[in-house]
Amino acid sequence: MKVLLDGDTIQARISELANEIEADYPPGEEIHMVCVLKGGFVFMSDLVRSMSVRVTMDFIAVSSYGSGTKSSGEVRFQKDLDSSLENRHVIIVEDIVDTGLTLKYLREILRSRAPKSLRSACLLSKRSRRKVDVPVEYIGFTIEDEFVVGYGLDYAEKYRNLPHISVLQG
Ligand code: IMP
Repeated sequence: MKVLLDGDTIQARISELANEIEADYPPGEEIHMVCVLKGGFVFMSDLVRSMSVRVTMDFIAVSSYGSGTKSSGEVRFQKDLDSSLENRHVIIVEDIVDTGLTLKYLREILRSRAPKSLRSACLLSKRSRRKVDVPVEYIGFTIEDEFVVGYGLDYAEKYRNLPHISVLQG
């Protein structure tokens, strides 16, 4: 497997993203981070530890991929949030935005729960694969149309623990 982004490069970008996020919210406001499981857990964990404002967290699970590398376009809800989003500054934290279907669906559902604001942070974006237009306010890296694993991202549940991001070669 070819390393696309090593651990130090990822950490450096995450610090920048944390600074960007903090600068965008009024001082003293709490930010509620919603991690999309499973892939978002490593990014979420490093991102929140780079932030110094008040942060709360919750977790949501959706499935969009099955165990292959092709999107079915189908998104299923597997675990809902534990707490209300009403009147909170919410950031959805995702590993990667590919076709955009998952994020678009999630944004619609979460928007209907009346947050004060709703933004998205994705570590990776495959811009050329987008099927739907969906805003992503914070993007770590834009990558080519290649299937990547590591740093939370899996292939058939494997490789999530790699400290870097690699291209899975067929
Ligand atoms: P989307 O709905 O097509 O944007 O897909 C989003 C989800 O597909 C992500 O949260 C990932 O779980 C998965 N995914 C998309 N591309 C990759 C990849 O290159 N490696 C691993 N998972 C991916």
